[in-house]
Amino acid sequence: MEIIAVYNIKGGVGKTTTAVNLAYRSAVDGWPTLIWDLDPQAATTYILRRDAHVDGGSKELIGGDSDTAELAVTTDHANLDLLPADLSYRRMDVHLNKRKNPATRLLKLMRPLQERYASVILDCPPGMSLVSENVMHAANALVVPLLPSPLSVRMLDQLFEFVTHKGWLDLKVLPFFSMVDRRKGLHVETIASLRERYPAILATEVPYGSAFERLTLRRAPIESYAPASAAAEVYRQLWREIDSRLQVAQMAPPVAEPEKVPDVAETAEPVPVSPTL
Ligand SMILES: Nc1ncnc2c1ncn2[C@@H]1O[C@H](COP(=O)(O)OP(=O)(O)OP(=O)(O)O)[C@@H](O)[C@H]1O
Ligand SMILES: [Mg+2]
Repeated sequence: MEIIAVYNIKGGVGKTTTAVNLAYRSAVDGWPTLIWDLDPQAATTYILRRDAHVDGGSKELIGGDSDTAELAVTTDHANLDLLPADLSYRRMDVHLNKRKNPATRLLKLMRPLQERYASVILDCPPGMSLVSENVMHAANALVVPLLPSPLSVRMLDQLFEFVTHKGWLDLKVLPFFSMVDRRKGLHVETIASLRERYPAILATEVPYGSAFERLTLRRAPIESYAPASAAAEVYRQLWREIDSRLQVAQMAPPVAEPEKVPDVAETAEPVPVSPTL
């Protein structure tokens, strides 16, 4: 099961829009997919036309014996289920803090999902909290929508520093530019300098445009109502790129058996471990 979190410390950068469209893409590709709305604003839940209600709230979810698979609801889209959020999620940190292993609780809660889903997409709230630490601990990949603003440099530095400090070397951090307006000189300059500094940034850029905003009005993934649109194509491309990065990770050679004769790859200079890929 791939766990892909759409995350940024900053708010309003396109996390929810991205999570909804990627989850739809995953479902259309044939993967049984769950999107987990982790944000008390419950925007994903709203866009997918389900009630912002979690039985027992986050207290029961984090502290009790809830089966997350049982809390999932179907959506109007084949292969795509939703774990809704509600306002009680604003206290998730408090409930996590009461656990013996507060940073690994979400991962544990996701285990029962493995029997049903091939792909879990997490729509994260902004901020750097115990919830985000749980998310990073559980996820295989962190998809980070980045505004082409000089402040994004600081955010990425903080994020990479945190991931490195925690030793999560397997976590793929996959930033991409969101809400890009290439008519703006500052966007063009910022993108060029950020790409130089962080080669891991994905090639796909999501432009600024009302076609993306309209999703909130239509309350459905873009591809479901405008499959031939440029906006739908951008998210298809983003999904393909993320998918290929994850495939590369899966195809990475396993750790060599001790008795095996070393081959060229094993005797080569070790590649410096970096969380940027
Ligand atoms: N590419 C885009 N172009 C223009 N507007 C966009 C684009 N992507 C998202 N938006 C709009 O920007 C606003 C914020 O987007 P979104 O809710 O996806 O961000 P978010 O990071 O999830 O926000 P929050 O941190 O509040 O959860 C929404 O009104 C959304 O419709
Ligand atoms: Mg959001």
